[in-house]
Amino acid sequence: MSLVFVQNMVTILRLSAAAAWFAAHAAAAPVQRNPISFLQKTSGDAIIFQLGNISYLANTGHPTVVAGLVGQRSPVAEGAAIPITVISTNTSTVSNQTLEQILDDYANSDDVYSADFLEGVYIATTADTASIDASALSYLAGMGVKQTLISTGTRMASRYGQSMTTIGSGNLTSLPPGPYLATFAAGSVTFAPVYRLYEDSYRDFLYGSYATGDGSDSFTPLDRSLPSFGYPAIPVPSRLYYLHDPRPFAGFRVAIKDLYDMKGLVTTGGSQAWAYISKPANSTAPSIQRILDLGGILVGKFKLAQFASGANPWDWQDEHYPFNPRGDGWLTCSASSSGGGCSIAAYDWLDYAIGSDTGSSMRRPAAVSGTYGNRPSQGMITLEGVIPLGGATDTAGVFSRDPYKWSYFAKHWYAPSLHQSSNLTGLSALSVPDTDGFPKTILYPTDYLPLNNSHAEPILDALIANMSSLFGMTVKRFNFTATVENAMDPTVANITALNNGAIGIIDSYTQWEVIAKPLITAWAKLFDGRFPPIDSARRTGWQTYNETANTLAAYNNALIQKNTAVEWYETHLQYSTADSCSESVMLYDIGTGGLPSYREQNLNNNPNASFLAEKPPGAAITGASICPLYGCADFTVPIGQVPYYSEVTFHTEMVPVTINMVVKRGCDFVLFNMIEKLADAGVLKTVKTGKTAF
Ligand SMILES: *[C@@H]1O[C@H](CO)[C@@H](O)[C@H](O)[C@H]1NC(C)=O
Ligand SMILES: *[C@@H]1O[C@H](CO)[C@@H](O)[C@H](O)[C@H]1NC(C)=O
Ligand SMILES: *[C@@H]1O[C@H](CO)[C@@H](O)[C@H](O)[C@H]1NC(C)=O
Ligand SMILES: *[C@@H]1O[C@H](CO)[C@@H](O)[C@H](O)[C@H]1NC(C)=O
Ligand SMILES: *[C@@H]1O[C@H](CO)[C@@H](O)[C@H](O)[C@H]1NC(C)=O
Ligand SMILES: *[C@@H]1O[C@H](CO)[C@@H](O)[C@H](O)[C@H]1NC(C)=O
Ligand SMILES: *[C@@H]1O[C@H](CO)[C@@H](O)[C@H](O)[C@H]1NC(C)=O
Ligand SMILES: *[C@@H]1O[C@H](CO)[C@@H](O)[C@H](O)[C@H]1NC(C)=O
Ligand SMILES: *[C@@H]1O[C@H](CO)[C@@H](O)[C@H](O)[C@H]1NC(C)=O
Ligand SMILES: *[C@@H]1O[C@H](CO)[C@@H](O)[C@H](O)[C@H]1NC(C)=O
Ligand SMILES: *[C@@H]1O[C@H](CO)[C@@H](O)[C@H](O)[C@H]1NC(C)=O
Ligand SMILES: *[C@@H]1O[C@H](CO)[C@@H](O)[C@H](O)[C@H]1NC(C)=O
Repeated sequence: MSLVFVQNMVTILRLSAAAAWFAAHAAAAPVQRNPISFLQKTSGDAIIFQLGNISYLANTGHPTVVAGLVGQRSPVAEGAAIPITVISTNTSTVSNQTLEQILDDYANSDDVYSADFLEGVYIATTADTASIDASALSYLAGMGVKQTLISTGTRMASRYGQSMTTIGSGNLTSLPPGPYLATFAAGSVTFAPVYRLYEDSYRDFLYGSYATGDGSDSFTPLDRSLPSFGYPAIPVPSRLYYLHDPRPFAGFRVAIKDLYDMKGLVTTGGSQAWAYISKPANSTAPSIQRILDLGGILVGKFKLAQFASGANPWDWQDEHYPFNPRGDGWLTCSASSSGGGCSIAAYDWLDYAIGSDTGSSMRRPAAVSGTYGNRPSQGMITLEGVIPLGGATDTAGVFSRDPYKWSYFAKHWYAPSLHQSSNLTGLSALSVPDTDGFPKTILYPTDYLPLNNSHAEPILDALIANMSSLFGMTVKRFNFTATVENAMDPTVANITALNNGAIGIIDSYTQWEVIAKPLITAWAKLFDGRFPPIDSARRTGWQTYNETANTLAAYNNALIQKNTAVEWYETHLQYSTADSCSESVMLYDIGTGGLPSYREQNLNNNPNASFLAEKPPGAAITGASICPLYGCADFTVPIGQVPYYSEVTFHTEMVPVTINMVVKRGCDFVLFNMIEKLADAGVLKTVKTGKTAF
């Protein structure tokens, strides 16, 4: 996947000319500004440059706007590029105060813009008759602005040394405010959008990407490290570009699990073998397209356990296992949406990450990273254009640090038009009310709780007390396993058989048909009958897959069995009443109960640590397996943290404590409303990035 770095001689010469120009003019600058230094031209026709110690990418190959220049020639050498700021205002008289106010706002609301972009400015006024007064011009001179661009019709007081050039043509309505790299040519200037390059120092991403910008709706992979970066560079656009964008997700920065198609990028599923036989996706998965349609930005592909398996950290071969910022920095990110939870826990510049959950893959990564992450109701959103695991158990979820932002995103993202058909789920059509029909009962399953770390249980007890008092709910302790095993219908009662049989077939059939069989066949053809090199998590299952046993008929029969179990669950365990979408919310822990789980296998062979995916003694299935079986909605919610003595730093560190909240299928939005009320009451909080969540 390594890219050839194309060094274009013409560009180098032009850039040197620009550097000489800057050197000549820098002496006169009244303010200290980091000069631009050009580093590389990418094969994707973009330029990487630095201002001070911050690196940026400018998509010069596909600028936002090309505008004509009229009147006086620009002093900027033809072919030279300068960092420039588009200042957008509707004020009819632009004064020094106008500019100072706007630039302060820009600096405070964006991590991409800085005063280093004030080499030039374009004052884009939307007022019918605008004038720029003398105080504004002296302010710009004081800021060391070398080149000021204005629109035709804008009147100006007088000149203060800096050059004024008028922009006469071009679709300027499509030029939002913010930082750009402006390249000057005879009679024209192009504005290339600028991305700050953040270092993925926790190695949670496979690579960064950005919108190609050529009108094809494709993405360009930024598969590189800069000289000063050991790790992938993730391009993040200015938030100012979205200042006046009314779409609900305008400017949200979103990381995508490399299981979802993004047009122009190869979807690897975490497998180099699969990547080898795959072409770049020719369209973006509809679930991801919806994020784009709502105004979201896709910043890159994050790491996953291969083919969405539940592989432990020490079983990853094709990718280097991502790092978790929490605690000692040596804790697991779980699987399979590993890079998603950990990147949300790591980076303030990232708003959301989209993962998937078949058996636990959203919920457990959220638990170990101390972030919010959901498994939605079965059928909530189409998984077309996504590498499947179990066609009728796969779901798509979102990680967030903030309870309100999490709820906001989910409610906009999960559109009824994208619900899966009953054909795929084998279940009744999904209906998702957005009401305050909250649960009346807190179900406390005694076979899954209390939390394993006795120091964590008081945190859960406080949450339960807070929920009970806020919503007037009563707590019901019950034995989940015994309740199911007492069902009259033997299909339902034999929960182990149902989970190993029906769910076992559902969780393997789709991936076998769509991924495994084509890969094994293609590899054998290419490499003289050889089996593809894949991680151990899938090797045996694929190698011994029995197509005679796992037929389409067996799969359809499994869907019928699952539906029987769901109908029982929604009648006897979590059901709707006139007042409640889901009469109960069930709590359990999908994580470690407040114990550390290390990325290093042997460190978990210690009573003070924990492996993941442990089945509590006496329970028929793991807590994680409940909703894949019963179609319910299951949210991981961070509620606190407890200390542990690290076997890596030999120091006391903090590990997050989370709890899972389960409601009947279809009650996701009611649960989100409940989450918001818990946040209103100060019970749930925004988690921080870094070593500690709180
Ligand atoms: C970059 O430079 C600024 C100021 O010169 C400094 O505060 C900051 O820590 C530096 N950042 C990095 C990543 O070196
Ligand atoms: C100018 O913009 C400000 C801030 O966006 C807005 O509040 C104000 O109504 C606008 N005024 C006019 C005349 O459009
Ligand atoms: C704006 O300019 C006026 C003089 O024209 C000056 O008195 C004032 O301090 C300046 N304000 C700012 C914010 O620079
Ligand atoms: C100008 O840009 C806007 C916003 O991108 C777009 O809606 C419009 O169609 C463009 N107009 C022309 C003439 O290209
Ligand atoms: C896009 O790719 C899919 C699957 O690889 C293929 O079936 C389809 O024909 C392709 N569509 C186009 C327009 O190339
Ligand atoms: C849904 O199932 C029906 C009945 O089995 C079938 O006729 C139809 O083609 C299926 N639709 C899809 C989209 O698979
Ligand atoms: C939650 O419950 C605990 C224990 O009863 C109490 O100390 C705390 O104040 C409550 N918190 C809120 C935000 O109500
Ligand atoms: C559950 O089903 C399995 C497999 O069919 C069977 O071996 C087992 O005896 C059954 N258990 C009960 C309690 O019926
Ligand atoms: C595959 O499944 C069929 C049908 O259940 C069974 O007869 C056969 O023995 C199985 N083959 C292997 C290799 O286990
Ligand atoms: C586990 O933790 C306890 C209490 O911190 C400590 O006394 C004990 O030595 C630890 N056990 C091991 C095996 O590290
Ligand atoms: C809790 O710890 C016990 C004892 O180490 C273990 O058997 C059990 O599986 C753990 N439970 C969970 C949910 O991890
Ligand atoms: C729950 O019920 C199961 C099945 O009857 C039993 O094996 C288990 O011990 C019970 N667990 C608790 C905590 O009561």
